Amino acid sequence: MNYFVSIHMDKNSKKPMYKQLGDHLYELIEKNILKPNTQLPPIRSFATHLKINPSTVVRAYNYLENRGVVYSQMGSGTYVAPLPLDILQKPIVSKLKSTSFPTSIPITDSTINFASMSPSTDLFPIDAFKKALNEVLDRDKGNAFSYQDTQGYLPLRKTICNFIQQSNIYTTPEKVQIISGAQQGIDLISKALLHYGDLVFIEKPTYNGAVAAFQSRGAKMIEIPLEKDGIDHNTLEIYLKLYQPKFIYMMTYYQNPTGISYSTEKKRILLDLAEQYDFYIIEDDYLSDLYFSLEPPIPLKAFDHKNRVIYIKSFSKNFMPGLRLGFMILPKAIFQHVLSAKQTTDIATSGLLQRAFERYLSLHLWEEHVKKIRAIYKIRYEYLIEQIEHNIKNWIDYIPPKGGLSLWLQLKSDIPMDTFCNTLLQRKVIIAPGSLFSLSPYYKSYFRLSFANITKEEIYDGIIIMKETLQHLENNPHQYLPFL
Ligand SMILES: Cc1ncc(COP(=O)(O)O)c(C=O)c1O
Repeated sequence: MNYFVSIHMDKNSKKPMYKQLGDHLYELIEKNILKPNTQLPPIRSFATHLKINPSTVVRAYNYLENRGVVYSQMGSGTYVAPLPLDILQKPIVSKLKSTSFPTSIPITDSTINFASMSPSTDLFPIDAFKKALNEVLDRDKGNAFSYQDTQGYLPLRKTICNFIQQSNIYTTPEKVQIISGAQQGIDLISKALLHYGDLVFIEKPTYNGAVAAFQSRGAKMIEIPLEKDGIDHNTLEIYLKLYQPKFIYMMTYYQNPTGISYSTEKKRILLDLAEQYDFYIIEDDYLSDLYFSLEPPIPLKAFDHKNRVIYIKSFSKNFMPGLRLGFMILPKAIFQHVLSAKQTTDIATSGLLQRAFERYLSLHLWEEHVKKIRAIYKIRYEYLIEQIEHNIKNWIDYIPPKGGLSLWLQLKSDIPMDTFCNTLLQRKVIIAPGSLFSLSPYYKSYFRLSFANITKEEIYDGIIIMKETLQHLENNPHQYLPFL
């Protein structure tokens, strides 16, 4: 209680008592007099000491908790948050910024959807998968529907070890964990490794589904900017000297949303830093199969000789997202933690689908499928670039990615992004504003255009509408309703 002798409450002040107390405590935390993880005094004795109502103390603690400065543990008390205030106060560590762009958008048949990263359903290999499914049903009968091994169906894990050699990754079934999609993988890692207040480094900008998973575990995040060939390693090292992250979350190829891919040099630097500063790297390989050059990508995991990389591969964008299937290759040191997290999450991924996918891979149907969709997406990609160059080049800047399903563009003019998005929405064109992908307000002038689920005709119409919208808004910068 010694620290609290200096606290004097002024009953005549206009400032509510709980705020007075909260601000006093905040000052003690800010000056590092109250150190991280120190328990704040129990409510009743503190109230008696200060001659105030216990409910005022409760409100003061809630007030500090809302500011992220303290945290409470059920049945135990309230503690000073482990992170230094200078991090907590920076805009990079805040909730995902809300945007005035509506989050639930009515989508009809006539909507031109440049926002969705979900692949076109007409590219799903239904007949081939049906063949695999039928084979499994005939062969395994009821066994296909019983509880499965939490780690995943062993024949599938074995087949995956062969499959992933095409990416220069050599592993064994013991290190493979089957997951119900990459999002589950990210969530399981968070569940297994993160404690309240832990620090995670993320790329700036990044995939907001991962940010949401880290936030759900009470993690704080630091955004590290991206350069054209991967993470800005100088900034990364500055932060590493100050703070120890549990892990860094990154995408090596066709990063969402920027489309950036890592150079070999950046991959090596990142692995060296992970070793030097002792942290894990989550490599989210959600899309590397969709390369448009001749050379197939080589994931970071292929260079990981020191077991620093938690590799996550999804079969959503490159196959069928509704299958909810993917896998992770995990360092031994964390395997049991992740396995327990999987057990408590959903016991196991669907046995029927694991078996059918194993057949699908073993029948060598995958190679043909991925070759086909790569060619189709490449045509869409080239057509989109052609239309952009032809129609809206004067208004935007972008770097064409070497694969993937989207482009990341910057609006060069002063037109506010909300205005641009909302005006497009009036004409049934949807794009993804850059503010969705960062904790900081840095990407206000950016937007992502996806060609995952869009036809050639829609690309043509959509870009023409963008051109008309930009022309219109340039002359009427603050007018956006109505525009038809
Ligand atoms: C970068 C990234 N990782 C993971 C996911 C989630 O993938 P899955 O469907 O495999 O859960 C997405 C989905 O859009 C994504 O963009």
